[in-house]
Amino acid sequence: MDWQTRVTSLLGIKYPIIQGGLAYLAYADLAAAVSNAGGLGQITAMSLPNEEQLRSEIRKVRRMTNKPFGVNLAIGQHGRPYDHMLDVVLEEKVPVLSVTGGNPKNILSKARGENIKTLVLVAAKRQAVKAEELGADAVMVVGQEGGGHLGRGDIGTMVLTPYVQENVSIPVIASGGIVDGKGMMAAMALGAEGIEMGTRFIATTECVNAHVAYKQAILDAGEQSTVVIKRSLGAPARALRSPWTEEILKAEKLDLGYEQLKELISGKANQRYINEGNETAGFGWAGQGSARIKDISSVEEVIHLIIKEAEQIRSKWK
Ligand SMILES: Cc1cc2nc3c(=O)[nH]c(=O)nc-3n(C[C@H](O)[C@H](O)[C@H](O)COP(=O)(O)O)c2cc1C
Repeated sequence: MDWQTRVTSLLGIKYPIIQGGLAYLAYADLAAAVSNAGGLGQITAMSLPNEEQLRSEIRKVRRMTNKPFGVNLAIGQHGRPYDHMLDVVLEEKVPVLSVTGGNPKNILSKARGENIKTLVLVAAKRQAVKAEELGADAVMVVGQEGGGHLGRGDIGTMVLTPYVQENVSIPVIASGGIVDGKGMMAAMALGAEGIEMGTRFIATTECVNAHVAYKQAILDAGEQSTVVIKRSLGAPARALRSPWTEEILKAEKLDLGYEQLKELISGKANQRYINEGNETAGFGWAGQGSARIKDISSVEEVIHLIIKEAEQIRSKWK
């Protein structure tokens, strides 16, 4: 079956499946595995300590695959400068850049004229329209089912995807809660021309930096196992529910503010859980789709099964 859409043509990939930026998890092994399996893998720039590490991670991906891949740049991280990271992405001629977490204006203007495709992650129609005006090649729309940072509006993927698609002319990639072929077909029916997944790719053998305890917690999750934290800071984000996230929510209820919360929500606390497996000393982002992930497979198997299931659904409705 033909899976060509404007997203596959734009990115030069076989299947319209994109691996989302995954802080402290998306390095060369995962990115190359996704790209080799026909999707678009990405490395997450801001998880790396400096631009030279990013350069070497980009080169590592290139040694592992000759397929297109992307770099994800989260620009809202407490004012951490990203200019040098962006320079490396452009110098290394990375095929795709995805931007999230802030105003992409400067990045998109710097990328213009370079041979790089730009994707902007949005969670509202206004942001999508703006991204299109600024010259983004496609938008990724994240609904509130998703893992990690979300929009402030609590809008689900089911409504946000067609709402955005009806208001922009560039291709829309749906994200948030998609873990299988059913989700992929639903997204395409809603007008998306591709999907982005985060949580599903954590539960894979090639996500080597995800500790087994974190992967297991995703497998064990039910529909109530995730919770939105950081809402009081205007930066809602979905994590696995745990005593640690309950602590965060308690502090948020007391309106203690960023200074009191910063240790609890820090990147270090995140890494203690997801990289080191210390569940009582940190937290891990994950989406509601965790409830439907029941195995740790290779990336190739995950993509193969998604396509197989989606094709079965397509043929059923012919
Ligand atoms: C552990 C984790 C870390 C994430 N880190 C980033 C990030 O650094 N940059 C980014 O653009 N999105 C990040 N996201 C969001 C994902 O790219 C993607 O939009 C989201 O996971 C989609 O929802 P899903 O988890 O239901 O598939 C993260 C998500 C998770 C689960």
